[in-house]
This record gives sequence, structure tokens and C-alpha cells, in this order.
Amino acid sequence: MDTPKQAALLKRHRLKPHLPRHVAIIMDGNGRWAKKRHLPRIAGHRAGAHSIREIVRLSGELGIEALTLYAFSTENWRRPKKEVGLLMQLLKQYLRNEVGELLENNVQLKTIGNTGDLPLEIQSELRKAMGATAHCTGLKLVLALSYSGRADLIHAIKRIAKKAKAGHLHPEAITEKTIGQSLSTADLPEVDLLIRTSGEFRVSNFLLWELAYSEFHITKTLWPDFRTPHFIAALRDFQGRQRRFGGVESIVGSVTSWAR
Ligand code: FPP
Repeated sequence: MDTPKQAALLKRHRLKPHLPRHVAIIMDGNGRWAKKRHLPRIAGHRAGAHSIREIVRLSGELGIEALTLYAFSTENWRRPKKEVGLLMQLLKQYLRNEVGELLENNVQLKTIGNTGDLPLEIQSELRKAMGATAHCTGLKLVLALSYSGRADLIHAIKRIAKKAKAGHLHPEAITEKTIGQSLSTADLPEVDLLIRTSGEFRVSNFLLWELAYSEFHITKTLWPDFRTPHFIAALRDFQGRQRRFGGVESIVGSVTSWAR
């Protein structure tokens, strides 16, 4: 049920009540944004952090359940050492500065990915921020950090294989649910909407299993320029789609959910 504040927000933005439960975003175009302005790439990432702040706040206010952001992929480790270092600094600043804002907006911070690869000081900031927001019951903000969809699938397959080897699971009993529940996203609703900025038509290595029935919204807008009007446009685009999940009937909502 929408709160009166949410209902007013939906009306103001001319949105229908059925919003995606889980939105995932590939935040692309920070480098191009900076290049256009003759600025160093990190200036684009810094501006991108402002977009994150705005979209997180708005998602919470609208009553979206989960927002997963592709903040750092395993492939991003291949970037020049200086850029990786600056991105880590930015992440540290974000985690330190944003906890108050997250608490104010009842946002729970979570991560997916191999966070053990991150510098120890970032791991410690993450633990602090996740601990401080663990009780929050509003939006789940999921940062994908050192994340690879294929690596997450490999990890899930290994867990399942170990259970089978130990005799706790018959191979014939493996279903979509078994796999969904073994992924790092097991406690999240299905991804209803994927947004990719900067006009690239790729999934890259993001949420490979989870995106099976997601609606895609690709925009040419570069991530640092992606603010409230662009997010609202993506949600309106989603609300205009007919979701059939491979069938013939138009259904609004998710076809399955491993979480429940
Ligand atoms: C891609 O832009 C963006 C990333 C590498 C990840 C997103 C990172 C941020 C928004 C920085 C702040 C993050 C946090 C969590 C504080 P790109 O460099 O690939 O852009 P390009 O394709 O134009 O070069």
C-alpha cells in the first residue's frame, strides 16, 4: 500500500501505482561526461556519485523495494591503477558521508560481489555502513562491488555441487529455485527493470541469471546527467510495457520469486 506521501509523489510525476519492485542500473558514461568537459575521468565519477544520491533518495521515497547499482565490476580492476585508486577513495567518501542520508531515508545498505577483493579500509567502511543501516526497513540499496554475474553463478554452482556430493541434494531435484536461492541476490525480489545509461546495448557481466524477465530501458543520457526526470521517464517506460514472461497474457508483476 502506498503511503499518502508516495501517492502524492506518484501523482506529481504522473506515474501509475504499479512500480517495479527491484530496479538495477548499469551506470555508464562517467568518462565520456568528463571528456566532454575537458575534465579528468574522476570528475565524471564524482558527478556520478551525485546521481547515485538523487536516485537512491527518490527510489526510497517512491517505495521501490530494491535498487541494485553496478558500482564496480571485476573487469574494472583492469583500469589504470590511478583510476582504480581514485574510485576506491570516492567509494570510501561515499560510505562515510552518506550513512546519515541513508538513515534519514530508512535505506538499508547491502552489497553483492567479492568485497574481500576491496582494500581493507573500504571493507571496514562497508561493515560500518551496513551495520548502521541494518535495521532500516525501506529501500534496499545494493552496491555491486567487485561483482561478476558469471562468478556469482560459479559460486552458486559450487555450493549446489557440494550439497549434492554430500548427499543432501539429489541432482534431479535441482530447479530454478535452487539456483536462485544460491545466488548473492537470493533475498531480493526479481529484477523488474534494468536501466543502462550512455546508450550501450549490453548486459556486460551484470546479474546474468536475474535479468531473465527484466524490462530494459536504455538511455543515451550519461550517468552523471541521469537525475530525477530521467528516472521517472524510465519508470513510465516500464509502466507502458506489457509483461508476458514468455506466455500470452499480459501480467504486471513477477513470474517467480525465489525470495519467498
Ligand atoms: C562507468 O563509467 C562507471 C563506473 C566505473 C561505475 C560507476 C561508478 C560511479 C558512479 C562512481 C561512484 C560510485 C560510488 C559507489 C560512490 P565509465 O568510466 O566506464 O564511463 P565511459 O564508458 O564513458 O568511459
